Amino acid sequence: MENRTPLIAGNWKMFKTISEAVETSEQLVKLLAGTSGKDVMIAPPFTALSSVSDIIRESCISLGAQNLFWEKDGAYTGEISPAMLVSAGCKYVIIGHSERRQYFGDNDDTVNKKIRAALGFGLIPILCVGESEKERESDYTFSVLDKQLKKGLEGFSLDDLETTVIAYEPVWAIGTGKTATKEQAQEVHLFLRSLIEKEFGDRLSSSIRILYGGSVNPGNISELMAMPDIDGALVGGASLNPDTFSKIVNLVNI
Ligand code: 13P
Repeated sequence: MENRTPLIAGNWKMFKTISEAVETSEQLVKLLAGTSGKDVMIAPPFTALSSVSDIIRESCISLGAQNLFWEKDGAYTGEISPAMLVSAGCKYVIIGHSERRQYFGDNDDTVNKKIRAALGFGLIPILCVGESEKERESDYTFSVLDKQLKKGLEGFSLDDLETTVIAYEPVWAIGTGKTATKEQAQEVHLFLRSLIEKEFGDRLSSSIRILYGGSVNPGNISELMAMPDIDGALVGGASLNPDTFSKIVNLVNI
């Protein structure tokens, strides 16, 4: 890994009430005190953002959201704007997670709009891409990723994307206990980095962080992080428990 600061991000998905989120983040602040040289982010559900923000403010942990809507404001019942996320203390926002693509109609076009909105408000987007099991079995992995990445980032300049993070999350590895092998993950990360080089040049391809996500746990983080193009992890299930998540963070060598 060149000079890229590792990012270990926890996606809490639709778990934790406000009081549970407060308790988990209080424990994380204690467990991760003194962490340096790596970036840590947690993404609680919307309802807990503001409370968690107060708890982690002085710590090494940053706040992220799991989604946003691209309009500035308006009659969009049930949606959350980028400005609302900023005011709740968010620095990052996860965009195009496979669960959003699968259950809530997110697609490459809406993902592109969401990235633009996030960047417009100074949020760091984490663009999620990944193939399904069927697509991998039919040898479509690289064409699916090519489309998701190019369409997601269409119309942006090199400078726009300076902070953007990519997360490779093979759908078949999410919540299944099946992790991609370190070689499978590295192969895809290298492919994504080469695509970025082709589209935006080598300055961005060498600086952009590409995270791996899908059944990451304390037992597999070290071997994944040892691969040259894996710059961190987007952790689901294992981020819900503060002991487990802090173990993962601590296992990331800098
Ligand atoms: P799991 O770590 O539970 O497989 O989830 C991964 C994920 O979807 C993170 O965004």
